[in-house]
Amino acid sequence: MSVTMEKMVSLCKRRGFIFQSSEIYGGINACYDYGPLGVELKKNIKEQWWRAMVYEREDVVGLDAAILMHPRVWEASGHVAGFTDPLVDCRQCKQRFRQDEIDPKKYEKRQCPACGTANSLTEARQFNLMFKTHMGPVEEEAAIVYLRPETAQGIYVNYKNVMDSSRKKIPFGIAQIGKAFRNEITPGNFIFRTREFEQMEMQFFVKPGQDESTWHDWKERRMSWYERIGIRKEKLRFRQHGQHELAHYAKAAMDIEYEYPMGWKELEGVHNRTDYDLSRHQQYSGKDLSYFDDAVRERFIPYIVETSAGCDRTVLTCLLDAYDEEKIENEIRVVLRLDPKIAPVKAAVFPLVNRDGMPEISQKIAKELKGDFLVFYDDSGAVGRRYRRQDEAGTPFCITVDSQTLQDQTVTLRNRDTMKQERVSIHGLSDELKRRIWGK
Ligand code: GAP
Repeated sequence: MSVTMEKMVSLCKRRGFIFQSSEIYGGINACYDYGPLGVELKKNIKEQWWRAMVYEREDVVGLDAAILMHPRVWEASGHVAGFTDPLVDCRQCKQRFRQDEIDPKKYEKRQCPACGTANSLTEARQFNLMFKTHMGPVEEEAAIVYLRPETAQGIYVNYKNVMDSSRKKIPFGIAQIGKAFRNEITPGNFIFRTREFEQMEMQFFVKPGQDESTWHDWKERRMSWYERIGIRKEKLRFRQHGQHELAHYAKAAMDIEYEYPMGWKELEGVHNRTDYDLSRHQQYSGKDLSYFDDAVRERFIPYIVETSAGCDRTVLTCLLDAYDEEKIENEIRVVLRLDPKIAPVKAAVFPLVNRDGMPEISQKIAKELKGDFLVFYDDSGAVGRRYRRQDEAGTPFCITVDSQTLQDQTVTLRNRDTMKQERVSIHGLSDELKRRIWGK
């Protein structure tokens, strides 16, 4: 079943995953807000990432750096001079495009890809993608600061602080999740490309010479993480960057791509950034950022292998990958087959009917489970409707209290994917769900 972006946008709004930002004012282009279900999904994805990147390793620690940084950081990083996209305007329809996204044959004729007018496109101008703002009350040149376009630089400028305080030795990594901002010329495809987004980045510091094997190792690990959070293997692939498309800092870059409704596109990048970043920061800050290897009594500037994932893009990928429709008794059942680990609501609890003490027992069960997961209690409408609502929200388990519960303290446990129901005891329900969600 292939899902369209329109269906996804509509489900996200209907079920409270994602809303257009400032919608009551007509919205603001390419900015989105996460609703009650969306914020849970995003939080669970971040937790899974942190678990795999920090908790399960002994050589990676976390960081949360400020969004606003010293403006020199962005000169050193190369962003002031080089973080640009080539921008062209159509004189006819006034639309703007990235020159590198226009079909080369059309661009040769300066033909607008939107209105089709020949000779209507301007020459390309380099447009810097960083958002500028002012720090302090006086809007003068000296006070210009940027909203960070990537979280990575916060890690590089803190590498010595982190290493010294946590007594890490190379090789080791620093992981960070945080907001980034880019004044994209052509945002779009829902939350795929926005102007404000969150990144999940990890920078791994190694001795020169160990960079290539480390890069290979991390790209495999990152690919397997997507499978671990439930993305179908056949919808993922690697794509290595050719020499001509490498970013200014990279010696090698591998994208992990997903097959979106608009085609195969980048989900994450795994980059070998060499000693570019630390050398530049050493040069621009005047601080020694070299590392002394005690064992071999050797000094060097560490090489960096970066894994850089978009959190919002991962949310979108999980939603698209999980979306399914099937015909049941002449009705379409929409179901989000999200991996239980990342599903926003883990279980819904229903009384079959609102009498005979069933609501009270259901509420008691919901209350008991609430300490361990996000649980939803629902007693409105026919039970079939309630199941369908939870299917659309991706809730993996529904627990129903019925007349048999009153006799033998069992409930039905319904599986979202198979729709099979089995009777399980109320006692030990929490452990049973934990086992099914996290395998423990
Ligand atoms: N530190 C390296 C870096 O930022 P990137 O390829 O520019 O590399 C990494 O970005 C990831 O961040 C992308 O693979 C994507 O998932 C996410 N990303 C980048 N720009 C984005 C945008 N405008 N909207 C949403 N996600 C974005």
